[in-house]
Amino acid sequence: MNVVVIGLGSISEMHIKSYQKNPSVSLVGLCDKNQTRAQEKAAHYDVKHVFTEPEEVFQNPEVDAVSICTWNQTHADLAIRALRSGKHVLVEKPISMTVAEAEKVQAAVKESGKMLQVGFVRRFGTNAQVLKSFIDQGKLGDIYYAKASLLRRLGNPGGWFADKDRSGGGPLIDLGVHIIDSCWYLMGRPKVKSITGHVYDQLGNRSNVQNLSFYKTADYDASLNTVEDLANAVITFENGSSLMVDVSYSLHTKKDQLAMQVFGTKGGAELEPELMLVMEENNTILNVEPQIDHRTFDFDNAFQKQIDSFVEACLTGGPSLAPVEDGLEIMRILEGIYQASAQRKPVQL
Ligand SMILES: NC(=O)c1ccc[n+]([C@@H]2O[C@H](COP(=O)([O-])OP(=O)(O)OC[C@H]3O[C@@H](n4cnc5c(N)ncnc54)[C@H](O)[C@@H]3O)[C@@H](O)[C@H]2O)c1
Repeated sequence: MNVVVIGLGSISEMHIKSYQKNPSVSLVGLCDKNQTRAQEKAAHYDVKHVFTEPEEVFQNPEVDAVSICTWNQTHADLAIRALRSGKHVLVEKPISMTVAEAEKVQAAVKESGKMLQVGFVRRFGTNAQVLKSFIDQGKLGDIYYAKASLLRRLGNPGGWFADKDRSGGGPLIDLGVHIIDSCWYLMGRPKVKSITGHVYDQLGNRSNVQNLSFYKTADYDASLNTVEDLANAVITFENGSSLMVDVSYSLHTKKDQLAMQVFGTKGGAELEPELMLVMEENNTILNVEPQIDHRTFDFDNAFQKQIDSFVEACLTGGPSLAPVEDGLEIMRILEGIYQASAQRKPVQL
């Protein structure tokens, strides 16, 4: 399968390395509108073709599939054009900036008959896959509550991430997308009923803070910031279960935090910061520590598994473990949270 990676910033490295390790793939090209970056990466990874226009990639009959690793604003448009040109697509999260765009991507998938997978890489973490296998075997019973938190005290990546027109929003659409998806996936992808949400922009990007490093986009610029710095929400599902979430780029919290928990009728589990199962047996509460190499998210392994699963889905005709329908449903949740906050009352879906 001949693949081209489009968008050669920070996350593209993971796509490039993982494709190069997959025996069924030839990584034939790299594309970025920043020509210098494209040439440097192609030389570094020994990739033959350099493109500066995604359309050149789409029109190239030798290309079977693309990874889209560009700014959020371009995801839907590039995905649709790629699909219509007969390419399979792995699109980074979020699938789009709005529900309307995601619906158009879904329509293009149906029309083209091509594979589209969404970059929900946390589904491929060993800890998530082990926990999912326990849940699927009914070990936790019915999951009726989940809680997810990803708080950065200083972590606005700047550049396009901080520009709502190009990102669609701040930590909610950037980080919330991952942790909401992880919990929703573990809960069995229930249908959303209503959403309560609050979005705040009280602290800005805290670019005044000194002597503390943080994640920055490839083209860092702190001069513009039009995104929220904190969001929280309660998402209620049709089966009565609920998910509580909070995410931030800037917050007066003592330290960064990542926590995801699910609670069922027979047991509970912490996915992050480390996989732990909580059971009750013989009138005794047990905290069960799975003996696996990685109890926290194993980024490199997960990325490799994500790419391998995408390639297999393309070659076999699917199904994908992170299909377009899921990308759309997560967009409904994200947009619902922004809407609920803007209208200061819950949104019914
Ligand atoms: N899965 C993950 O854990 C994860 C982590 C980080 C970022 N991401 C996602 O990956 C995407 C990229 O993030 P990043 O941190 O690598 O950003 P980045 O700013 O570091 O890199 C983006 C690159 O895309 C290029 N680009 C933008 N528009 C283009 C276009 N129309 N045609 C060609 N090139 C274009 C830019 O020149 C830049 O080199 C985002 O959607 C982000 O949400 C996912």
